[in-house]
Amino acid sequence: MTEETVHLARGGTSVVLDTTTPGVPAIVYWGRALGHQPREALDALVVAARPQRVSGGIDVPGGLTLLPLEAFGWQGTPGLTGDRQGTGAFPALAMSTLDVTAHSVTVSAEDPVAGLRFTALLELTASGLLLQRLALTNAGETPYEVRSLQPVFPLPASALEILDTTGRHLRERSPQRHLLTAGTYLRESRRGRPGADSTVLLAAGEPSFGFEGGTVHAVHTAWSGNHRFSAEKTPTGVSFLAAGELLLPGEGALQSGETYEAPPAYGSWGHGLNELAARFHDEFRLRPAHPRRARPVTLNTWEAVYFDLDLGRLKALADTAASLGVERFVLDDGWFRGRRDDTAGLGDWYVDDTVWPDGLTPIIDHVRSLGMEFGLWFEPEMVNPDSDLAREHPDWVLQPEGRLPVPGRQQQVLNLAIPEAYDYILGRLDAILTEYDIAYIKWDHNRDLLEAADARTGAPAVHRTVPALYRLLDELRRRHPGLEIESCASGGARVDMGILARTDRIWTSDCIDPIERLVNQKYTGLLVPPELQGMHIGGPVSHSTGRAHGLEFRASTAIFGHYGIEWDISELDPEELLRLGEWVTLHKAWRTLLHRGHLVHADLPDPAMDLRGIVSVDRSAALFGYSLTASSASYPPGMLRFPGLDPEQLYRIVPARTYRGQQGNGQSPLDWLQAALDGRPLCMTGRLLQAAGIQAPVLLPEHSLLIELHAVPRVPLSEGF
Ligand code: DGJ
Repeated sequence: MTEETVHLARGGTSVVLDTTTPGVPAIVYWGRALGHQPREALDALVVAARPQRVSGGIDVPGGLTLLPLEAFGWQGTPGLTGDRQGTGAFPALAMSTLDVTAHSVTVSAEDPVAGLRFTALLELTASGLLLQRLALTNAGETPYEVRSLQPVFPLPASALEILDTTGRHLRERSPQRHLLTAGTYLRESRRGRPGADSTVLLAAGEPSFGFEGGTVHAVHTAWSGNHRFSAEKTPTGVSFLAAGELLLPGEGALQSGETYEAPPAYGSWGHGLNELAARFHDEFRLRPAHPRRARPVTLNTWEAVYFDLDLGRLKALADTAASLGVERFVLDDGWFRGRRDDTAGLGDWYVDDTVWPDGLTPIIDHVRSLGMEFGLWFEPEMVNPDSDLAREHPDWVLQPEGRLPVPGRQQQVLNLAIPEAYDYILGRLDAILTEYDIAYIKWDHNRDLLEAADARTGAPAVHRTVPALYRLLDELRRRHPGLEIESCASGGARVDMGILARTDRIWTSDCIDPIERLVNQKYTGLLVPPELQGMHIGGPVSHSTGRAHGLEFRASTAIFGHYGIEWDISELDPEELLRLGEWVTLHKAWRTLLHRGHLVHADLPDPAMDLRGIVSVDRSAALFGYSLTASSASYPPGMLRFPGLDPEQLYRIVPARTYRGQQGNGQSPLDWLQAALDGRPLCMTGRLLQAAGIQAPVLLPEHSLLIELHAVPRVPLSEGF
């Protein structure tokens, strides 16, 4: 390898860069680790990857560099767009320095004529993610405006199919797939938060790639504001993904000497989505601030009592919760001044003394005396027009000059980039966290932003409020060490690595119907590991869909995440309490594995069948959940194959004794498995379980069965059976 060819390898990933390309370096390979490669072979790869000149084309065709620009022959979407009041739209940023370390490459580039300086940091993280951080500095005398600065990630030629997610409130992260054809496929968020419809990743892979197979690459932007993801296929056969910020007019304006930093962009790849997602999960788990103590089983009051915050009722709820083994009690919306329903009060973060004459002390002391932590709901970025805050500081509300945007949930958005507004919110939250014993904040954000402009100047302000939010979260955590924060945004409308860098879980969706949650949690899991996904057992009839489900379906679909209950459990009969308590106990018995192990999904041909599991890091045990979301196409449903196990290991397969669905004329799943072996344990190797599997137990539709796998000592098979 000459000095011009760079091979980074880490976390199972290799990246090879050609640093001799016109402009800045180009990634010529990104994917599975290549192992040791002879220098000449890598040099040859670089030469072999150079674009060819073709008839009808330009004389020096440009390839996809880290910053593809027209100045170097690139004819697709440029990596940088911007101008100096209408001029300087075609910069020729050429590399000036290159710094290579074991796992990173830093490139600086300059265009003295355009008055621009560019830096790119490329890093392979320990988990094998490819991180790109791009920045552009205005080195000229006059203002320059960045319109877009997009990190790009090359795709292999085999990437022919796109997967991303869309959705809406109560149905976030629904997958959609289609072909990657010539042109640009664009997913933008203009909601001031990623949004319920945003895609958590933009992925492209081999035709019909799944969770278990098919090479697939994906990108994500660690940013909680407006974003822009794209997949592009050019007529020259180059395909790539891009992930950056969507800048509103003026947001990228740079005075002389100022720098715009694009949000960190992450790329992952895998042979199947299980492997691709595992790199993100590992990345989260390697963070120093990743929550490592057991995730406390939580009771959230929202769907239990809504705004009916009666102290006696809340105490009774807390008593029942504690008796079941709940470890954290979260008081949701409605506790602060003027907040009797969702029309008023946001911004007035003082305990409402008409409801709480003795403050929050009575409920907090009660919860603490039961051995539970106490958590409290806030929506710090929001303000109701009907609040003292809005009346006193109308100019703190984001709005174009002189006109409030269309409200959402009767509320408007505070401009946290105004220092006085920021100080007020920080001061109020800090005061409440200082006065009371609060271990946890549920941090909500219940509306999309519209016309988010600074009231004083009329200038769009999303780009500036996001760092202010991050500063606020960081400062609160600094002042209150140990404080945990949940990021909620009408449920799951703000799910990104930017917010998750400073929070401890997301509220995955406001919908806790298990049918909806199975899809939502599966695709949220492309990015977010199970321990950071809030999953609650709701009441028997879902508040958001009206569907009724038994406890085992509700509980066994929630068990794979940060477990909780969101249901008025104070009036359950003793039998129901007993069963619910068993679910809490079961979760606690498995949670270390569930919150540290590897999440896997099986690709099953029948869309009504869902099999997911978490395999311990040493692959000695696993818990799988098999669910039927509708009646199965065949009867019996077919084979269940279990991915992610140790192929050489023998596992005992144990159906968890939680299934209570009636079976009509068929056998119950428990009976079926037991009868098949005359009561002997069912044991198979990981290889057999993945390649062949077992007959799926017959379930009623909208039911789940948990299946435990336990490694058994390696004995000759003849003795074991
Ligand atoms: C939306 C959240 O997602 C709910 O869980 C709840 O906290 C409400 N807001 C409260 O207003």
